[in-house]
Amino acid sequence: MTLETPLLTITGVSKAYGDVVALDNVSLNIRQNEFFALLGPSGCGKTTLLRSIAGFEDPDVGSISILGPDSSTPINLLALPPNKRPVNLMFQSYALFPHMNVRKNIMYGLQREGLSKEEIAQRVEEVLVTTGLTDKASVRPAQLSGGQRQRVALARAIVKRPRLLLLDEPLSALDRKVRAEMQIELKRLQHEVGITFVVVTHDQEEAMSMADRIAVMHEGRVQQIADPVTLYAQPANVFVADFIGSGSLLHGTASESSFSAYGSTFPCHNPDHISGGAVLVLRPEDVRVTGVTSTDNPLLVGTIIETHFYGGSSSTSVRVPEVEDVIVASHPGAPQHHVGDQVGLSWDPQTAVLLQVHP
Ligand SMILES: Nc1ncnc2c1ncn2[C@@H]1O[C@H](COP(=O)(O)OP(=O)(O)O)[C@@H](O)[C@H]1O
Ligand SMILES: [Mg+2]
Repeated sequence: MTLETPLLTITGVSKAYGDVVALDNVSLNIRQNEFFALLGPSGCGKTTLLRSIAGFEDPDVGSISILGPDSSTPINLLALPPNKRPVNLMFQSYALFPHMNVRKNIMYGLQREGLSKEEIAQRVEEVLVTTGLTDKASVRPAQLSGGQRQRVALARAIVKRPRLLLLDEPLSALDRKVRAEMQIELKRLQHEVGITFVVVTHDQEEAMSMADRIAVMHEGRVQQIADPVTLYAQPANVFVADFIGSGSLLHGTASESSFSAYGSTFPCHNPDHISGGAVLVLRPEDVRVTGVTSTDNPLLVGTIIETHFYGGSSSTSVRVPEVEDVIVASHPGAPQHHVGDQVGLSWDPQTAVLLQVHP
């Protein structure tokens, strides 16, 4: 076997609760040392998939296997009880012991593994350093901030050195600023400890900023698995295009090299030879605000309903009659127009992604 052999292999996993299909034929591979994210709206099956890997749910069909410690033989995870799987699930509620200090909270899980006192002490001290908790080692959880409690929960999971660490919405209890810090922190930790991470989140920015690869899920099905840049630039379908990044979707009809919508026909790049019902994806950075005259030759004309100045850049939101989505253009510098102005919009036909709509 080569280094490319995935650590975890999920094949054809489905799970229903009565009439609710939580997972529908899910297949995916997770590579060794990867930071992998499961991303999708609430109810799409993320937690069910994580719990199936950890052993707290039994899939109705399908298989889940992990490479053995010798990295050659795959082990059938579904045949093992949760405590025998080389996998650790970090729950959203950190479930720290309130009467134990930080060091004892971290030590607790190791004491049941029959390791020597010296090894336990060494591992705990190491993890305290990695998670930046050394000076909090003697403090009880009640005296810690949310971000610090999060670190203790992480430390407790990492100290056991699982092959795979599963984290279900690990940052959702934190406020915005701490959350942004912990995103960087999690990524650094994962890199440092060399454990494969699978993080569940419904927040696309969070997934995009942390993960090497992301599986986008919707209604129990995997929509696309790719690195963040590919998901953004080459979404596999309309759901992914809408869910990842910001952008406006134009609904129309495609032919070989043009796209017709709202009574107009635009040139378009159609490498997949899509025809019939289609969506054109306009990312803000690809849309230009122009004048409305025939020399400006705009593709669409509308009215500005909002402008935003972010310091180094601006965005302009334009309402075009009959177009459902507001079209947003972003550009460097200050806003060049005012709310209420009539403007033209144009874009490079080569950059706008065209997607088939399946009836
Ligand atoms: N124990 C359960 N009993 C019944 N329905 C459940 C149970 N767990 C999850 N579901 C349903 O399965 C679907 C997927 O849930 P879940 O995996 O928790 O989604 P997510 O974590 O993406 O929000 C939802 O419709 C949810 O209501
Ligand atoms: Mg969930």
